[in-house]
Amino acid sequence: MLILGIETSCDETAAGIVADGRRMLANVVASQAAIHAQYGGVVPEVASRHHIEAMLPVVKAALAEARCKPSDLDAIAVTAGPGLAGSLLVGLNTAKALAYAWSKPLIAVNHLEGHLYANWLDVETPPELPAVALIVSGGHSELILAEDHGRYQLLGRTRDDAAGEAFDKAARVLGLGFPGGPAIERASREAGPKPPRLPRAWLGQSNDFSFSGLKTAVARMAQESHAPVADIAASFQTAVVDVLTRKAVNAAEAAGARCILLSGGVAANGPLRATLRERSSIPVWAPPPILCTDNGAMIAGAAHFCAEAGVAPLDLDVRA
Ligand code: KG4
Ligand code: ZN
Repeated sequence: MLILGIETSCDETAAGIVADGRRMLANVVASQAAIHAQYGGVVPEVASRHHIEAMLPVVKAALAEARCKPSDLDAIAVTAGPGLAGSLLVGLNTAKALAYAWSKPLIAVNHLEGHLYANWLDVETPPELPAVALIVSGGHSELILAEDHGRYQLLGRTRDDAAGEAFDKAARVLGLGFPGGPAIERASREAGPKPPRLPRAWLGQSNDFSFSGLKTAVARMAQESHAPVADIAASFQTAVVDVLTRKAVNAAEAAGARCILLSGGVAANGPLRATLRERSSIPVWAPPPILCTDNGAMIAGAAHFCAEAGVAPLDLDVRA
């Protein structure tokens, strides 16, 4: 089954083509990061306008990269939510128009399910379920038990900021630019041997996360101490990685999971990947960094595994 996946939930205009949920034939991403960098964050209205301009060229480029024609496709998949309403609308309406014009079924995909299935792309043997998924992005930090394809249990989530959002805000306070995750990771490499310690919110035995206190602590340290920016960045990153990895490992042990599936933009973070692998006694899967951040291939991949549940009517609306 050959699926075209379209993704426009935030500031990446993306289209990918995947065979049988596993083999990636194309993955084209037009990032708007440079446009939003001047504002220090994603401006929703600007994002949707740029999606309109980039969408069809990106779909055409994906078809060319995969060397396939519209008639070769079996379905058109699209992120229906969650995300920015105006951004989602561009992808969803493009997908509807193509599905109608090319007489293909339309498959609605949940953005988080897309991130999860990035772990199935271009791997020799796929991950084994049940697994505990740690999905960490700009909008979400979730611990999910994936019992089987399409069968999930929410184990924990953030009570305030998402992990990626915390990276972006901390980077902004430290004057490191946007997007904050890669900027903090880069700055941390220049840290001294003993960076100051920042607090962690453990929330007792709960699987939930909280990052707003840490964000405030970074702001206070930046204002009140003479610690170098690289040291504060490293302390912040260590605190986030510490909490994410300990909670993921504990949840996986308690659930009897066969593996841990890391995904979402923050999963591109090197220390997060390395620490999780160090601390876990079961296999840890993480997509290559380019498939951690938003892309169309992950949407096409997820659609293969949830096609039956996800075949959507043409009057479907976005779920922001
Ligand atoms: O999944 P994604 O591309 O978009 C959403 O669904 O939100 O995630 C974007 C988030 C941003 O907050 C960005 O700062 C973060 O992922 N991110 C990182 C890294 N690369 C991207 N966070 C930490 N380290 C990174 N290397
Ligand atoms: Zn995402």
